[in-house]
Amino acid sequence: MTKKLIPLIAANWKMHGDMSWAQKPVELDAAFPIAEREHLELLICPPFPLLPALHVVAGPLNIRVGAQNCHSEIKGAHTGEVSAELLADAGADYVIVGHSERRASGETDQNVHDKAVAANRADLIPIICVGESLEQREAGDAIKVVADQLNKSVPDIEDYVIAYEPIWAIGTGKIPTMDDISDMHHAIRKRVGQDIRILYGGSVKPGNASEILAVPNVNGALIGGASLEMDSLAAIAKAAS
Ligand code: 13P
Repeated sequence: MTKKLIPLIAANWKMHGDMSWAQKPVELDAAFPIAEREHLELLICPPFPLLPALHVVAGPLNIRVGAQNCHSEIKGAHTGEVSAELLADAGADYVIVGHSERRASGETDQNVHDKAVAANRADLIPIICVGESLEQREAGDAIKVVADQLNKSVPDIEDYVIAYEPIWAIGTGKIPTMDDISDMHHAIRKRVGQDIRILYGGSVKPGNASEILAVPNVNGALIGGASLEMDSLAAIAKAAS
């Protein structure tokens, strides 16, 4: 039996938005009011400078905020980097680590592991991303590739979230079959146990969210493009609740 975990609907804004976007939670709440969101957790991960202002607006509406990356160390001579501790201080509850767009520019499993440790140290919940390339999927290696990423990037901590994001499904409008999502999430479940939420990410839209979120062991979604419009983010969140 799969344990019932509160679904997490997480928006990854990537490199989009300006400071006026700190007000977006008001729009989101208008589309999907707080009273109807009891059995669901909503999270927005904006670019760094938006975090504190977004947190001020989102907090009272019971919408959490998170970051898209952090450094593994607490402080030091690391120009351009941000510590997990500072993110927590700025209002973050979560931080995405190991997104494929960062892995593509050189982030290793060991880096991802160390960032997840840092998040845990700062009382942030890391959302650890894994996922195969199209080549790996077509070679029949998807589950093996993800198992290897899990083994190397998930540290021995209690509280974390896994996001399964097939690289070829990100921003392409393509998604795996529901059977393929089910098989992958089942394999991840076996590795992480019953208490960890496993999100699916990659071209989640209002039109496919219900189907994807109904797949066993899918405990929420990590959403890119469709999270930039509050109406579509609300529609996806409603499908989860
Ligand atoms: P899209 O929803 O735009 O495919 O992006 C998915 C993603 O990368 C979320 O982290």
